[in-house]
Amino acid sequence: MSIVEQWCKTDGVRSKIVQMDLELLIGAARDVRNNAHAPYSKFRVGAAVLGASGRVYGGCNVENATYGATICAERAAICAMVAAGETHAAAVAVYTDSNPAASPCGICRQVLAEFADDMPVVLAGPDGHSVLSLAELLPNRFVFNPKDAG
Ligand code: THU
Repeated sequence: MSIVEQWCKTDGVRSKIVQMDLELLIGAARDVRNNAHAPYSKFRVGAAVLGASGRVYGGCNVENATYGATICAERAAICAMVAAGETHAAAVAVYTDSNPAASPCGICRQVLAEFADDMPVVLAGPDGHSVLSLAELLPNRFVFNPKDAG
C-alpha cells in the first residue's frame, strides 16, 4: 500500500487525493512551472497545492534582482490557496527538472506545515515522482504558543 493510500484510509480530508489522479496534481505543478520567473538561477520550480475542497492552486518561483526577495513556488501556491479562502491543504506536488526531484526548502516546509499537520509531498520531475510525508520532512516544526510570549 502506498503512503498516499495509507493517508487516505486514516484521514477524511486527505482522502481527496484519492478522488484526484495524482498525475493531475503533478501536471498542474509541471504546467505552472512554465511561468516561473527565474532569470538569475535559471532553476524553474512549479508547485500545486491540493486544497481540502479539492481545488488545486498553482505557484511558481518568482525571483528578484535582490535575490533575497525571491519567492519559492511552494509558498506562492500556498498564498494562492489562502487568497482564494482556503486554509487546509491536503497534498502538494513540486515539479522541477532535477534528478533526483527537488524537495521543498526549509522555509517552505514550515509554511506548508501551517496549513496541514501532515500531508503527502509529491516530488516530481521528468524521471518520475516519489511521495514523502511533510511530518517526516519537518519533524518538530515551530509552533507558536501565545502563553510563552511576552
Ligand atoms: N526554489 C523553490 O521555488 N522552491 C524550493 O523549495 C527551493 C528553491 C527556487 C528559489 C529560487 O528561485 C530557485 O529555486 C533556486 O534556489
